[in-house]
Order: sequence, then C-alpha cells, then structure tokens
Amino acid sequence: MQEKISQYTSEINSFQPKNNDELEAFRIRFLGTKGIIKDLFEAFKTVSAEEKRILGKVLNEFKQMAEAKYQILKESLETVEKSADSELDLTLPGEGFELGARHPLSLVRKEIIEIFKKLGFNVAEGPEIEDDWHNFSALNFPEEHPARDMQDTFFIRLSPDPSPGGEGSTNGKGEAIALRTHTSSVQVRMMEAGKPPFRAIMPGRVYRNEAISARAHCFFHQVEGLYIDENVSFADLKQTLFHFVQELFGAGTKVRFRPSYFPFTEPSAEMDISCSICKGDGCQFCKYSGWVEILGCGMVDPNVLENCNIDSKKFTGYAFGMGIERITNLKYQIKDLRLFSENDIRFLKQFQSEMI
Ligand code: DAH
Repeated sequence: MQEKISQYTSEINSFQPKNNDELEAFRIRFLGTKGIIKDLFEAFKTVSAEEKRILGKVLNEFKQMAEAKYQILKESLETVEKSADSELDLTLPGEGFELGARHPLSLVRKEIIEIFKKLGFNVAEGPEIEDDWHNFSALNFPEEHPARDMQDTFFIRLSPDPSPGGEGSTNGKGEAIALRTHTSSVQVRMMEAGKPPFRAIMPGRVYRNEAISARAHCFFHQVEGLYIDENVSFADLKQTLFHFVQELFGAGTKVRFRPSYFPFTEPSAEMDISCSICKGDGCQFCKYSGWVEILGCGMVDPNVLENCNIDSKKFTGYAFGMGIERITNLKYQIKDLRLFSENDIRFLKQFQSEMI
C-alpha cells in the first residue's frame, strides 16, 4: 500500500489541470465518495495492527496533501478566470481622456522662438517690474517723453499712499519703479551684463495703462530682438526679418518697411507684411489696405550702446520688437484681444490639435 501511495503522490504533484473539467475529474478520482482515497481507507481496515501504526500516519498525510493540492488548483483556476473576465474589450467605447491645450499665445511664442533659434539667437528674459533706467532712460527716452506719462505706465507703490499723485516707490537710487511697458528693457539688461556680440530674442509680458477693449489691453506680450556685433547693417536687419516672416506666415509673404521713430533706434522703421488673411486683396482685418503692421525695428541708437558701456564706434546693431497677440490674431484670425485672458474653455479648446 505504501508503494501505491507514493505513486499517487507523485502523480498528484505533477498534475496541472487546464480547466475546471480536468480539476473535477481529479477530485472525483482521488477525493470522491468512490475515489482512491476512500478505497485506501477501506483497505487500511484490513491490514494488521502493526502495519496500521505506520500506515495510518502515511495515509492521513496523503489525504491532507491531496485535499490541499485540490484547493490550491481550484483557487488558481478561479483567478485565471477572473482576469480573463476583466480582459479589455476593445470594441467598447473608450473612457474619455481630456488632453489640455496649449494657449494660442504660447504656441505662437514657441514658433517665433524656434525660428530665431535656428538663426543663432539665444533666448533671454528680464524682470516685469522695472526701474526708470532700464525701461526708459537707458533707451534714450527724453525726460519729457509722453510714454513716461502716468497714463501709459503702471507705477508701483510699495506702501499704500491714497493721495492723488502720492509718492511712488523707487529702486533705491530715487528712480521710480513700474511694470515694464515693453521688453526693450531686457536689451539694456543684456548689454549691461555682458560683452558684445549679442544675438538674442527676449519674450515676455508687458503692461500699459489702457482701457480694455477688443483692440487694447492692460497687459500683452512682446518678443524683443537684439543683434550687436561689428559691422551689423540695416541690410542684415531686413534680411533676418524677411526670413522670419517667410517662416512664420509662409513663403511669398511680402514685407515693407516704413520710416518711423523710436527713441532707442536710429534709423527706425515699422514693418508691415501683406495681410495673411486676404493675401493682400483687402479685408476688414487690414482695413482694406492689404498690409498689416507687425513690428517696430531699427539700428540701435549709439546713445543706447554708450549707456550700456558698449563702444558705439566699434559696434553697431539692430533691434526689433513685436507683439505676440497681434501675430496670433493674424495667424488664427482672432478679432478680440480679450479672448486671450478670459480663459473661456470654448475658445482655448480650439487649439487642442496644436499640441506640440
Ligand atoms: N518697444 C517698442 C514698443 O513697445 C517696440 C520696438 C520698436 C522694439 C523698435 C524695438 C525696436 O527693439 O527697435 O512699441
């Protein structure tokens, strides 16, 4: 009998059912009411008392082992079944997974940066709270220039002073501090901090004290450009900006430069591009002129270079500044500036496919 038990033991040990039917057959064969174990116990009754002492233990252990094996196999088949039940049904509609969208201004800023990066421009940033020197004086703004007027500039007062025209805060040198009105202040910081050559673009937010409407806002975004080296000419400026426009608005976009005035550049110009909406035929956006102004530019005034301790006899350079909102309006035909800062999800969602 011992021999039989050891044969059965190895049979049970190597048993691996593929499904419930095989396991049930196993149970009936070994543990059933007419099963092997039952038979062994019957046979056990007939052996001698001496044999019983040894066999009893062996037989009981065998029975426990068979039962335990059955339990383990049953549980493992159940877990296999459960995981099969929960397997993905790819025909079911998926659960919605909401992707965020990039803000259109971020998309356009990124595009602008990519184009200039390929031309060897670095990207730099400066503070939004500026002093008079960096925002105005170093940029050659005359003392009485209207842009310094309270109407355009948000001056900052650190301690509340409710009286009209009350003392504003200063930078410690007695100069007023304010929210920067343009990113040209970053040019000054860059030139002060390093040595030429400089070739960088400087994106950032700027603030102006304007009534909010579809066409004006109290804050908006600019990208400033600066290139200072020996022998930089107006032709370099034109070619760089021409290339930029072809990349951003597509080959064939026309440009024209109109003489203009900025305190920090001489000569200065404004650059128009052929309206990307009507392709120059005339539409509401370009006021039926076929042209849209997108930036100001010019050769950096020697006074500005000297203010930043750069030898204006040795170095020349150009600068330009553009509004990101204006370019975004053109690219996406957006007519109201307020949409950019109202966080209306219906507006923002339209740029979902533009994830980069
Ligand atoms: N800072 C000017 C503005 O806010 C834009 C500008 C014009 C920047 C000419 C420049 C420039 O660097 O050369 O309107």
